Amino acid sequence: MRGDGETFPFHVRAGDFSKLFTKLLFYHVELGQKLRGYFFAQSARAGDIKSVAASVNDRVDVHTLTNVIEVATAEGGDRRVHDQRLQRLPHGIREQRFLWVTDDRRKRAVVVEKKGDLPVAARDVLNVLQCGRNHIPLNNLAIRDSRIEILSTINYKLTSMNRLIVVSNRLPFALDSTGEELWTVTPAAGGLVSAVEPVLRERGGIWIGWPGIAGEIPKGPLAEATRDAGYKVVPVALSETERDEFYYGYSNGVIWPLFHDLQNFCNFEPAYWQAYKEVNERYADAIARCSQPDDFIWVHDYHLMYVAQALRERGLRAALSFFLHIPFPPYDIFSKLPQPQRLLRALLQFDLLGFQTRRDLRNFLGCVRRVMLDVRVVPRRELQLVRFEKREIRLGHFPIGIDFDSFENGAMSDGVAQRSQQLRANFPDCQLILGVDRLDYSKGIPERLRAYRDALERHPELRGRVVLIQVVVPSRVEIPRYHEFKQRIDRLVGDINGRFSTSNWLPVQYHFRGLDRDDLLAHYRACDIAFVTPLKDGMNLVAKEYCACRIDEDGALILSQFAGAAEQLKTGALLVNPYDVEEVADTVLKAFRMTDAERTARMKRMRRGVRDENVFWWVDSFLRAGAKLVARTARVATRRGAPTKR
Ligand code: G6P
Repeated sequence: MRGDGETFPFHVRAGDFSKLFTKLLFYHVELGQKLRGYFFAQSARAGDIKSVAASVNDRVDVHTLTNVIEVATAEGGDRRVHDQRLQRLPHGIREQRFLWVTDDRRKRAVVVEKKGDLPVAARDVLNVLQCGRNHIPLNNLAIRDSRIEILSTINYKLTSMNRLIVVSNRLPFALDSTGEELWTVTPAAGGLVSAVEPVLRERGGIWIGWPGIAGEIPKGPLAEATRDAGYKVVPVALSETERDEFYYGYSNGVIWPLFHDLQNFCNFEPAYWQAYKEVNERYADAIARCSQPDDFIWVHDYHLMYVAQALRERGLRAALSFFLHIPFPPYDIFSKLPQPQRLLRALLQFDLLGFQTRRDLRNFLGCVRRVMLDVRVVPRRELQLVRFEKREIRLGHFPIGIDFDSFENGAMSDGVAQRSQQLRANFPDCQLILGVDRLDYSKGIPERLRAYRDALERHPELRGRVVLIQVVVPSRVEIPRYHEFKQRIDRLVGDINGRFSTSNWLPVQYHFRGLDRDDLLAHYRACDIAFVTPLKDGMNLVAKEYCACRIDEDGALILSQFAGAAEQLKTGALLVNPYDVEEVADTVLKAFRMTDAERTARMKRMRRGVRDENVFWWVDSFLRAGAKLVARTARVATRRGAPTKR
């Protein structure tokens, strides 16, 4: 329902909030030249506010809400801080018991909370804005009464969004010892971390995970690494044997290759399964120790598929959610796993299972139907439903996105613009083709290099006119197969450069290292063609990051049809089968010859999708699905008269 909301500048899906809030008033306030939406929520909690911000499309600057959280939670927490803030308010306002909040460096966000009756009049909001000289150093004249309108009043049943607990094998950084008590902290690579980190940074909460070293976790370096995180970090330690058998073994030697349809790469060593279960139990213990009733517990990825089973064995009945970042294979491949039933049973202990694409969800349901004979699958329009052991499990596909604004803003910065110009200047008269991948056999790097070689061979017009910049970020190098894979890449790069280079042209620029963020963004900005051809990939965020950084709406994307991202980007990308070397080679030529107008039209379409379906949209859709379950679990527990055991 909308009140005077016709002029509301954002795409607010009012229904989105229906289960999360009691009463919301949306305001629309003009501050200077900026048209921004703000909201008022009775009983809002930190999570609610973030959730609304995330849902009010991508235009609300979520950073600005940091202080809101402090105030909104002050009531439940530090009463003194809360009172001090109230004291600072002008008399009239104080009497009305507003909580009001500004701002951050950008001086934009205003959220007003009034204890007691709703609605708050537009005039009240204006008063707060105008009296806030000390807090909102903005031009009062810019705030025009007429521009402050109640846009929407919605009465809802409250099931407030709860504290978020993210659980993943990896924390967003890796500690490493350089000997003699010297430690380095490196940001972790990969899609999971790059997607989930901004969410936790914005929402706050807890992240449970492994800091990447075997053995005892050093307290000092850990504290140092997490100091400014904006969320709490709970580390889980792994011994060397556990790292070898759980992480390198079952997770990356069995599940990873199998789920990427590469069963020949699997090492089905029986001892790995035991280690997998034991480490999952360790994670379950960490969750049980630090969670409180009402927390939203969200477990991520293939390393931790047994966690819910372990928690259920510990008597926990609270709602548990899981998201798989990698693909789920079809039955014919999944059935090669020595423990198909045990793994599916473990996964069905979660209450909500999220997959990247429709294909993954379909594959999962296909496996469940074939392997778990006592399961009933009830097809639904939105979330699918599975009945198992007197429980109901919901399943959906939730394609993960990126923090679009942060990539776009980063790409606009002067530093990145300069670096990108320098990069271009190094290769005059050439189109730059970019490949950025973690070192992984699923990324199709050798196939891509062969296709590039084939393109140079069969299409001489490309010689001297294109350069492939291939960045390979070291990963899992202790697994022999990864090591061999690197040697294959090295050889292919050597072969191409040896065969085609001239005194002033090197066809492949190869970097075996991670790029720092600005450098990565500069590469995205500078390169004319992105070459993203995994053999199979859960999503592939490089493709989306490339689009977000193309602020000039230029650039062509060659994308594997087997990347999860293909489902969303197919309207703008040049889709290829990465195994078809000749087709890929011809597509390089097509991208090279593509007119500016076509590039722009395609890029515009892709950017729109990546912007709309960003990481906050992803988290919001998942949490909304999850919130229903939390409420349902609580209702069932109340009906049975049993508290939800923790
Ligand atoms: C993929 C997985 C993540 C993993 C990342 C990096 O994106 O989905 O769970 O963290 O690769 O791999 P690593 O083994 O270094 O954690």
